Amino acid sequence: MSESFNKINRVYGTLELPGDKSISHRAIMFSSLAKGKSTIKNLSDGHDVYSTIRCFKSLGVETQGDEKSLYVNGMGLFGLNKPSSELNGENSGTTARLISGILAMQKFESIITGDKFLSKRPMKRIIAPLQKMGANIKYSKNMNLPLTFIPSDGLHSIQYELPEASAQVKSCILLAGLHLDDVTSIIEKEQSRDHTERMLNLNSKKTDIGIEIFSSKENYPEPAEYFVPSDLSTASFFIVLTLLTPNSELRIKNVSLNKTRTGVLNILKLMGASIEVENEFEAVHEPYGDVLVKSSKLKNVKIPTEIIPNIIDEISILSVAGLFAEGDFEIRNAKELRVKESDRINSLCYNYAQIGLNVEEYEDGFSLKGEIKNNYPFFESFNDHRIAMTFGILSSLLKDGGKVNNFTCVGISNPFFLKQLKTIAR
Ligand code: S3P
Repeated sequence: MSESFNKINRVYGTLELPGDKSISHRAIMFSSLAKGKSTIKNLSDGHDVYSTIRCFKSLGVETQGDEKSLYVNGMGLFGLNKPSSELNGENSGTTARLISGILAMQKFESIITGDKFLSKRPMKRIIAPLQKMGANIKYSKNMNLPLTFIPSDGLHSIQYELPEASAQVKSCILLAGLHLDDVTSIIEKEQSRDHTERMLNLNSKKTDIGIEIFSSKENYPEPAEYFVPSDLSTASFFIVLTLLTPNSELRIKNVSLNKTRTGVLNILKLMGASIEVENEFEAVHEPYGDVLVKSSKLKNVKIPTEIIPNIIDEISILSVAGLFAEGDFEIRNAKELRVKESDRINSLCYNYAQIGLNVEEYEDGFSLKGEIKNNYPFFESFNDHRIAMTFGILSSLLKDGGKVNNFTCVGISNPFFLKQLKTIAR
């Protein structure tokens, strides 16, 4: 279904957003592994997170409550049950890749599958290191989902250098490592989000090539009380809207301020954004605080390569900030965008061409030049929640508004996006 947006003339108010998606997945997984009762407060209400809950329920984990307060009765080391059917990650790459690290170590056979979009995303990146650990995995010629995990006698720890900056791959290996006596380590050259390391209290050290992170049975999770700070990636859509709308001011409460995720705020500030952080706290190793944003005049800046993994989920909305900023927007060295929920480089270029921009597409990024020509454009979401929200926000900034096709996919990370937008639009 398509969604129409009118121009928003002013943004004002306070938003309280659901919990961070990445932290929510991990809180459910670690609670499910830990033996006994854990509590998770302010869980994400995104469909992806429900995919994770459903998978662990199929593995015998009991849960009670809702996203405000979820109680999880975890099964302990090797306590998960053999599922009676395939586990389905639906659209969620984080579910499929992280759970694979756990399934590969179990003493029962299991299958992880996904929807038609997830089934096209690359899984070689987790198959290769898990096989190095001795895992027995059956997969198709293309190395996509479904993956079948067959119990293996030869499981062992590894030291692994990540070929691409990916927190999902890093976490997959570290979760597999939790099932082994010997220490598994991964080395990442560029730092990706570190929620797994923080929430499991993993040791790490700096090496000549990057950061080395260690996991073993010693780090196996214990029951805990988690508070999930609100999702900065979700917040960034409203932050950019506020910055670009005149006479606007928005406060977003309890937003995750993990330094491996705040690149979007740093880039926007470099662009001239008025963004202040108030009331900083820390809950179960994750920092958070209130973010106050005011309308600002922005200018484009060069986006450094090393910050790309930190802003990977925010590049699409950052490009909207860049479109209205002085100078031309360009992003390079961001090839990973091609293997997200859609090929985001392609999705973004297609949509920017709809408004008559001069779009240059590169293998690892794109640039935007020229003036917006087509008012009331019809954008395509490509079934990618972040693309849908990006062009919902862009439509709200255009003189005559705009339309986004297949908008319901926003439910993957933020089912109440439209309601939140209404509460702050004046
Ligand atoms: C995530 C890691 C990132 C990110 C995704 C969530 C995670 O993916 O894009 O939305 O929770 O670990 P990659 O690991 O593929 O970069």
